Amino acid sequence: MTSPLLDHSPASLPARSYRDAGWHEGELAAVWRQEWVAVGRRTDFPERTIRRRTIGGAEVIVVNDGKVLRAFHNVCRHRGSELCTADTPLGRLISCPYHAWAYAPDGRLMSTAFGTATPDFDRTEHGLLPVHLKIWNDVVFLSAAEEAPEFQTDVGTRTLANWPMESLRTGHRHEAIIQCNWKVFWENYSECLHCPGIHPGLSDMIPVYKLGVMAEAERSDGGAALPALKEGAMTWTEDGQPCGPPFPGLTEAERAEGHRFVTIWPSAYVVAHVDYVRLVRLEPLSPTETRLTAEWLFPEETLAQPGFDASAVARFATQVLNEDAAACEMNQRGLASPAFAAGRLMPQEYEIHAFHQWVLKRLARGGHAP
Ligand code: FES
Ligand SMILES: [Fe+2]
Repeated sequence: MTSPLLDHSPASLPARSYRDAGWHEGELAAVWRQEWVAVGRRTDFPERTIRRRTIGGAEVIVVNDGKVLRAFHNVCRHRGSELCTADTPLGRLISCPYHAWAYAPDGRLMSTAFGTATPDFDRTEHGLLPVHLKIWNDVVFLSAAEEAPEFQTDVGTRTLANWPMESLRTGHRHEAIIQCNWKVFWENYSECLHCPGIHPGLSDMIPVYKLGVMAEAERSDGGAALPALKEGAMTWTEDGQPCGPPFPGLTEAERAEGHRFVTIWPSAYVVAHVDYVRLVRLEPLSPTETRLTAEWLFPEETLAQPGFDASAVARFATQVLNEDAAACEMNQRGLASPAFAAGRLMPQEYEIHAFHQWVLKRLARGGHAP
């Protein structure tokens, strides 16, 4: 096994990158309006509806015409009014509330209402401004980039192939506004040095976490390999027991893993267990505020079990999320210190280093280099 550990201690990002409004604007433009951003599951966009979303500060609408999901910037091509002021059912046309320009659900401009079009005005050039849309494992992703970037996760795009993602239903949802920069959240997610101190329950469930590392490959203590989950546990529930029938399509190895993480920077991660799946999404609200939305996805037959309590299943991971949120907020409060310029990363924080490089590369590409 090759160790992913760093052989040096690189500098962290400058403290101002976690609090400065100008830096944040650069990230919204160069990261959040360029990359694929998760905005919900397919079922959050029912047939014949218009749903509003924000990606990287850009207001967009997702239109489901009964067949296709499409996304557009929420702005009218006449004089730039907000087009949809609320989530609505989809009528035959999407009409601007200001002067009634009307668009087809596919974005074509159909009518300029009382405005009389002159010969130099070409209706076909004034359709709604499109936003790229992609569905991956039933999660809807948008990209406001001119050219859609390649869709990537940290472990490839086929990694959940044996989980029946399309047929899972959301049984529990947890939403929180964390008082931290969005990067602080990902940094916390990307290391386990904090696990022994911050997550006693999780570290008990996942023995390797007690050593302050995320996986066997990171160990340098030379000890015997540890089980993925503690003795007798199969999944992330309080007693470690599955909350319903395990997914039938998983391989032996997948069943033994206990959890499979899939990370899609900057906005989402999925944790697939033997019996349920958790989807966590992030939305930056300001340099120091991030909205977190976590959903617990179950097979219908699990939800249909008499007396099934999805919130009881969710308790274990919610506790972990809350512990992380408190740590992130504590980190953010410290980052406000005028005395702190930048930190140093330890070898185990190789994923944070990669994340920093990922962000910096995009800032440079977008002309927002610090
Ligand atoms: S701004 Fe939409 S019709 Fe005038
Ligand atoms: Fe954590």
